[in-house]
Amino acid sequence: MKALVLAGGTGTRLRPFSYSMPKQLIPIANKPVLERVLENIRDLGVTEIAVIVGHHAKEIADALGDGSRLGVAITYIPQESPAGLAQCVTLARDFLGDDDFVMYLGDNMLPQGIAEAAAEFRALRPAAQIVVQQVADPRAFGVAEVDAGGVVERLVEKPPVPRSNLALIGVYFFTPVIHEAVDAIEPSARGELEITDAIQWLVSHGATVRAQEYAGYWKDTGKVEDVLECNQRLLDGMERRVEGDVDAESVLIGAVVVEPGARIRRSFVEGPAVIGAGTVLENSHVGPHTSIGRDCVLTGTHLDYSIALDGVTVSGVRGLHGSLLGRSAAVTGTTVAHRHHRLVVGDHTRVEVAA
Ligand code: G1P
Repeated sequence: MKALVLAGGTGTRLRPFSYSMPKQLIPIANKPVLERVLENIRDLGVTEIAVIVGHHAKEIADALGDGSRLGVAITYIPQESPAGLAQCVTLARDFLGDDDFVMYLGDNMLPQGIAEAAAEFRALRPAAQIVVQQVADPRAFGVAEVDAGGVVERLVEKPPVPRSNLALIGVYFFTPVIHEAVDAIEPSARGELEITDAIQWLVSHGATVRAQEYAGYWKDTGKVEDVLECNQRLLDGMERRVEGDVDAESVLIGAVVVEPGARIRRSFVEGPAVIGAGTVLENSHVGPHTSIGRDCVLTGTHLDYSIALDGVTVSGVRGLHGSLLGRSAAVTGTTVAHRHHRLVVGDHTRVEVAA
C-alpha cells in the first residue's frame, strides 16, 4: 500500500496564518499536524508517501525533507491551483500506479491513529473504504448513508439537508478502481472535483464501498477554534517532563513539559502545558492547555488555553485566553497613563480587546 497526503489547500479559514505558512504545519502540542499525519501512516507499515503541495511547497519540503527523519520516503507533487481532492488523485496517478493507497487530508488530526480502519480495509478489501464519525452538524462535511452491515449506500458532499449524521473523516482507503471514478466525474457546484462524488460514482456502478465508524478523537483543524481544541486534547494525554531550567521561585503543577534550554523564572505553569526549547518565562502564569513554541519570551504575562508559535514575545499583558500567536508576533502591555490600544495587525487578523 502507498499513501497520498493532501497539503495543497489555501487554508482561507486559517488566515492570517495561512498567508505565511501552510496550515498543515501549524504546531499542535508543539508538533506540526502534518508530522502527526505521516507518523500515523508510517504506523501502518506504509512508507512510500506522496505529498500534494500548493504555493507553500517550499515550507513543507523544508520541514519534512525526504521524510527519512520520520522513517518514510516522501515524493512531492505540485498542485498549481486547488481544484478538489479528486484532482489530487489524478496528479498522483503515476506515483500510485496500480497499488492500493490510503489518502489522508493533511489537516485532519486523529491522535489515536488509523490502524483499525486499515486492518479492516486490508481484510475485506472493498473497492473503497471511508472512515466516518457522527457529528452534530454534518452540513460542513461529506455525509454518508451506511447500512447496518457497514456498506455505503449514498454519499453527498456538504448537503444542506443531511440524511445522516455520519461525516466523512479525511482518511480514505482505495483500490485502483478509484482512478476510473475520478476520470468520470464532473466538477461540483463549488467548481471542484470532489472525492465524495468519485466514491459515489463507485457506489452507483455497483462497487462495494464500506464505512468504518471511527471511535477515537478526530478534528479537522481548519479553524482557529479547532486548532485550540485539538491542542487541549493532545496536551491532556501528555506526561510531565522537565528538561529545562526551573528556578526555586517557580511552581509547575501537573503535566508540564519544559523542553531543553527553556528557562522558567518566578513563574507558575499549570499543566497540561508545553514550554518549547529556548523559551524564557519570567514573572508569568502559563496554562492550563497552552503550548509555547521555541525561543519565545514571556514576561509579566498570564496566558491560558492558547498556542504561541516560535519566537513570540509577550510582555506585561495578563488575561490572554484562547489566543493563537503567530511566529515572532509581539504582544506588549502599555504603561502609558492615558489608556489606549495600539495595534499593528495584518490582513484577516482577529483581535478582541476588552472595552
Ligand atoms: C473535505 C471533504 C469532506 C470531508 C472533510 C473532512 O472537506 O470534502 O467530504 O468531510 O474534508 O475534513 P473540506 O475540508 O475540503 O471542506
